[in-house]
Amino acid sequence: MVVLKAQNLFKDYSTKENTTRVLKGINLEVNDGEFISIMGQSGSGKSTLLYVLSGLDKPTSGKVIFNGEDLATLNDEKLSKIRRTKFGFIFQFYNLVPLLNVEENIMLPLELEGLNKKNYKDKVENILKVVGLFDKRKKYPYQLSGGEQQRVAIARALIIDPQIIFADEPTGNLDSKTGEEILKLLLNLSKEHKKTILMVTHDNYAASFSDRIIKIKDGLIE
Ligand SMILES: Nc1ncnc2c1ncn2[C@@H]1O[C@H](COP(=O)(O)OP(=O)(O)OP(=O)(O)O)[C@@H](O)[C@H]1O
Ligand SMILES: [Mg+2]
Repeated sequence: MVVLKAQNLFKDYSTKENTTRVLKGINLEVNDGEFISIMGQSGSGKSTLLYVLSGLDKPTSGKVIFNGEDLATLNDEKLSKIRRTKFGFIFQFYNLVPLLNVEENIMLPLELEGLNKKNYKDKVENILKVVGLFDKRKKYPYQLSGGEQQRVAIARALIIDPQIIFADEPTGNLDSKTGEEILKLLLNLSKEHKKTILMVTHDNYAASFSDRIIKIKDGLIE
């Protein structure tokens, strides 16, 4: 089943002086449960594609269709609801809240959704175990290694049980051994938990964990 579809996506960035065309007609179908790597040179538009596919940014033209629904037809409220509940995001620099401990960071999306945290006790515990941070649940981000911080970010992306996880260079800031732990965790989420994953990476080894590699060159999929 196709969960996410890009149809003839174009993305321009314009200034007063000029327009840069970054995406030049991207077509893509992502199947449910697929783990996809997006590769390409620096500046080729990988992050741009990820942001457009996840509704964080709008295409200049073309469509993004999620579960059969054209994202452009949704109002801001509906779109942000989808982003908060159907999509999970992981970035290179973790983006944790420094004043919240591990558990609190993971529960942040529940708060944003106005959900009762008490009902999620078991779920939080379970996710902490999946990412291997149960013993560190009361620690603060500054007390954690980079790999541990990234696992908190992954746990936070999982708490609302998203359908698709978007990851922009999730191992980009980690040494190879720690990066491998994160990749194994993503692989586990894909295979055991049936999550669809779209991961941007410039690392061939990281990409080897995925089911399919998409290469972007000159604004198109090669
Ligand atoms: N918000 C923006 N405004 C203007 N130009 C932008 C914006 N975001 C990206 N660009 C430009 O679009 C092009 C593609 O950027 P993008 O960040 O998608 O590349 P990338 O493939 O992710 O690169 P990297 O591997 O370095 O992260 C670049 O030339 C960049 O300068
Ligand atoms: Mg990028």
